[in-house]
Amino acid sequence: MVEPSVVTKNGHYASEMLSQFRLLERLGNIYMEKIIVNGGNPLCGRVEISGSKNAALPIIYASVLVRGKCILENIPAISDIADSFEILRGIGAKIRLLDRTTYEVDCTNVGPGKSNYDLVRKIRGSYYLLGAEFGRFGRAKVGLPGGCNFGVRPIDQHIKGFEALGGKVNTEGGYVEIESQRGAEGNNIFFDVESVGATINVMIAAATAEGTTILDNAAKEPHVVDCANFLNTCGAKISGAGSDVIKIRGVKELHGCTYAIIPDMIEAGSFMVAAAATGGSVRIDNIIPKHLESITAKLEETGAEIEEFDDAVHVTANGKPRRTSVKTLPYPGFPTDMHPQMSALLCMADGVSYINESIFENRFRYVEELRRMGARIKVDGRIVVIEGGNPLTPAPVIATDLRGGMAVMIAALATEGKTEISDIHLIERGYDEVCAKFRALGADIEKITCPDPVEIKKAN
Ligand code: EPU
Repeated sequence: MVEPSVVTKNGHYASEMLSQFRLLERLGNIYMEKIIVNGGNPLCGRVEISGSKNAALPIIYASVLVRGKCILENIPAISDIADSFEILRGIGAKIRLLDRTTYEVDCTNVGPGKSNYDLVRKIRGSYYLLGAEFGRFGRAKVGLPGGCNFGVRPIDQHIKGFEALGGKVNTEGGYVEIESQRGAEGNNIFFDVESVGATINVMIAAATAEGTTILDNAAKEPHVVDCANFLNTCGAKISGAGSDVIKIRGVKELHGCTYAIIPDMIEAGSFMVAAAATGGSVRIDNIIPKHLESITAKLEETGAEIEEFDDAVHVTANGKPRRTSVKTLPYPGFPTDMHPQMSALLCMADGVSYINESIFENRFRYVEELRRMGARIKVDGRIVVIEGGNPLTPAPVIATDLRGGMAVMIAALATEGKTEISDIHLIERGYDEVCAKFRALGADIEKITCPDPVEIKKAN
């Protein structure tokens, strides 16, 4: 087998350099990061919420439609965003970090069909590149997306929308490819399911399509509205975002703008639940309280006291939480992205609580991890049954996915003793500076790097 070579600056092939690189790569692999939580302290103080992951992602990809510079503010420092910028750089975008949360994104010279397959498959939000490439170039080719594993996560509604806009869509060899003779053309689309991803993706493609598009049975989440607001700031003509009918009058082209992403309602909700679970008192700043109404209402049912301000909420736990039942629903219902964290809280409540997961068929992998900590929790069909009230005990656990990872972190913060959480890269996909933020609230929590026994065994 011929070894691939590396070309050095002065043109020499350096196979030693390559083997050194491989050695470093192997060494990198045999280390893993963990979070160690020495729990039991009530969280107290103030925490500042970062920009919304699920709004920032579509807005970053939507900037592909723009010939010119967009200044995007309040971008969270999380790995899904770093990967997305890497994907855009790979297709020709110029991206500059202006300060910790502000980026200048210039997609003037991007081209379609060039995105890195391996990066695209790491995250879910990369599917927005399909709508953006189709809208700008009339064709697109992007690998199938990845993201958290909740069972089957189809993209048939995205495809239905692109086809309605005149695209011929092919999914073969791990790619989604869209072609069209005349570019995207407006049409009326009735979505069969309320899908955040499909609504935003088709809205992005339709923003610069010829003619008018009406999206019916559209998702109403705040991030749908935020993406529409961003596109409108760039010159798009979108109305109705936030209701179930969105009207998009296609415009010829979009111009650059400065836009600040909304705060992350799920990060905020996670800190609210953590405050309640640890018996703490936390003010959560830089939020939009309206986005948190369903979470606030449920936490009040469990006995927490919640004071609302213009851009903050203060959560004070009132003794042991009370049991309750939750059903996840599209916005403004209780978000599926808060289900695992709520389960962790209800493990502390006396009596039996139920969580009915109506959005994703299999968002339950975290349950096994809470059981390792002694929780009496099981899954019955799509319902999580929690017999709460017995104290949890620390155990080595893993982050099964982003929100499942936050659930075990909340359980660990509320449990006396040392809990060790592995696979924390899944938590870092969506929580900005999570350890530092909890530490500032008085938690004893640290991130450590240690050898990975499985990889060391393999290397030997
Ligand atoms: N669905 C279809 N066909 C489609 C698209 C969706 O049947 O073409 C179904 C899904 O299987 C699911 C339901 O519709 O049963 C809703 O899925 P949706 O499309 O709304 O979810 P998504 O776009 O895949 C986004 C967020 C998720 C969040 C959901 C629901 C991003 C990148 N992801 O996913 O965020 O849970 O909406 O609000 O925005 C997270 O942040 O932890 C996360 C998983």
